[in-house]
Amino acid sequence: MTRQSLSMDGARRFSVAPMMDWTDRHCRFFHRLLTRRALIYTEMVTTGAVIHGDRERLLGYDPAEHPIALQLGGSDPRALAECARIGVDFGYDEINLNVGCPSDRVQEGRFGACLMAEPALVGDCVAAMKAAVAVPVTVKCRIGIDDQDPEQSLDEMARVVEAAGVDALIVHARKAWLKGLSPRENRDVPPLDYGRVLRLKAAHPTLLVVLNGGVASVEQAASLIGGVDGVMMGRAAYQEPWRLLAVDPLIFGEAAPFASAKEVAQALMPYIERELARGVRLSSITRHILGLFRGVPGARAFRRHLATQAVKPGAGVPVLAEALAMVVDTNADLAHIAA
Ligand SMILES: Cc1cc2nc3c(=O)[nH]c(=O)nc-3n(C[C@H](O)[C@H](O)[C@H](O)COP(=O)(O)O)c2cc1C
Repeated sequence: MTRQSLSMDGARRFSVAPMMDWTDRHCRFFHRLLTRRALIYTEMVTTGAVIHGDRERLLGYDPAEHPIALQLGGSDPRALAECARIGVDFGYDEINLNVGCPSDRVQEGRFGACLMAEPALVGDCVAAMKAAVAVPVTVKCRIGIDDQDPEQSLDEMARVVEAAGVDALIVHARKAWLKGLSPRENRDVPPLDYGRVLRLKAAHPTLLVVLNGGVASVEQAASLIGGVDGVMMGRAAYQEPWRLLAVDPLIFGEAAPFASAKEVAQALMPYIERELARGVRLSSITRHILGLFRGVPGARAFRRHLATQAVKPGAGVPVLAEALAMVVDTNADLAHIAA
């Protein structure tokens, strides 16, 4: 195993999930201020977009975002291999294949969750990507789709991708129901089954298995590690980003990057200045930080001020400074996790 993949295996103990429209480059830069160690994922980018689209816009990121994984959507092994190579040229630390998204658009393209019914093709995709790049290649899947039996569907998927040399399997611990549920319902309605993911790890001890789905706190993530190799957090990380300040202390045994959420917001200001100078709107960045102070006195005023003022033409860093002034200082509250 190379030095790089060893360090990536460590980073995989805690990751922030790929989320379309949410984990864009501004969000990821912000999350990186909250945790130095977590592995963070891009939004899904389709092979068609990578091959034909504006690559700098789709794949560009700030070097501070490392370690960062690129998630690809597609099912053509050659196209995926080409996109993996392009991703590595951009410096991504891992290439991930989406085998979990249930949207109609994705089903029409015959990728995402419907690939749960085609494990052999997923194996071909992984093998092609592995042959193309030296960085880890991973798969994010569900435990099954529709009327599949998760005992069989997940085991078959794991067996095939492991044989193809996959570096980790991330499992969203619920089925996707491809008919009749919206993508949003497919993240809540099919029941979570952590037991299935834990059994997968027990049955495949050499396969790196990361559990995803419904993890509500970093404490809960820490308690799951051991039964699996890592935990991926999605909505809780995005909606309550302050939770990520606990990742480095609780998961990696290191000090948090900042002692308080307020300091994190202040540390974001130079980045905001830089991005505004490049023509980015303030709200494109601040929309990701609205939940930074959830539960703290002044949090609602902070949120409201940003939501109403950051969208105005010409809005700049002073809007964030005004919003921050509405929040009661939380240094004392967070001192224990920064220690
Ligand atoms: C807004 C949103 C967009 C998402 N986009 C993607 C995506 O692009 N690729 C993917 O594999 N999963 C995507 N997901 C699913 C998440 O990665 C994750 O599997 C799911 O939210 C369950 O984890 P959680 O309960 O911790 O949120 C998305 C989820 C949300 C809420």
